[in-house]
Amino acid sequence: MPETIGARLVDGAKGKGLDRLGRLFAAFVGAVYRVPGTRPLKNALHGTWLLRHPLHPAATDVVVGGLTVVAALDVLSLAQRDPTLWRATDIALLVSLLFAAVAGLSGYTDWNETSGNERRLGVFHGVLMTLITLGYVASYWMRVGGGPREPAVWLALVLWVALALVAHLGGELVFGFGTGVNRHAWTLLPQKWQRTEVAEASLEDRRPVRVKLKNGVSVMVVKLDGVVSAIGETCSHASGPLADGELVGPERRDIKCPWHGSVFSLRTGAALRGPATMGQPRCELRTAADGTLELRSLSPGR
Ligand code: FES
Repeated sequence: MPETIGARLVDGAKGKGLDRLGRLFAAFVGAVYRVPGTRPLKNALHGTWLLRHPLHPAATDVVVGGLTVVAALDVLSLAQRDPTLWRATDIALLVSLLFAAVAGLSGYTDWNETSGNERRLGVFHGVLMTLITLGYVASYWMRVGGGPREPAVWLALVLWVALALVAHLGGELVFGFGTGVNRHAWTLLPQKWQRTEVAEASLEDRRPVRVKLKNGVSVMVVKLDGVVSAIGETCSHASGPLADGELVGPERRDIKCPWHGSVFSLRTGAALRGPATMGQPRCELRTAADGTLELRSLSPGR
């Protein structure tokens, strides 16, 4: 467990209240994604579809950048009393709020597939960011409502400080807990042919076999209609054991992670369904003269 400020905030008994809050949010998020037809939305919000990396940090970059522009323009307008800055500030704030909605939806979608202190810190970060966003909505409302502008400006400046502090917790989630980080970022598969202990003849159709390589990395080997494929065995989302997963898809050529339900193509390693956004590393295989399998990486090395 990482020794971060956020982890210390939520560890042990201190985090119990956050568990209750987490259960409340999880019930809501889970109910939304149990509605038939919401899977494409979930894939898009994770970033599995289209981006192929997490959407949440991309959206939050726009929010933090946009609200920093708002803060700079607000300070300038307080110093110069120049109403010509107001329109630019309002547009920057509106755009930031639109991206904040995307950041919130993608954040809660990703968060719902976490556990332990990562989950506690995630819900803490999420709820605080939601409150900050609502504060900015109020500031926007006051600006366009025609009343005195200064209270809206001061509110936004206070919120910007809060935003910077709470964004730090989001950074801890990624850099401390590894939320959203491809678990194969440091996986080293052999660039040269490496012998395994698996005989090709021993493989049964559509029954995955876990193979430990010399460096400790696990690969999953599976035979599909006579063709043998190999992909990384631990899930790129959070290291779930794919060899214990279920074969899915029309011809059962894809594997579903037993932990959070990500689906990967056994032939290409591609992530077909989130929460995973990145695919699995792949190996090519050959059969040695004595019938055992040899493999080497098909994925680019580091
Ligand atoms: S570990 Fe989360 S989907 Fe596999």
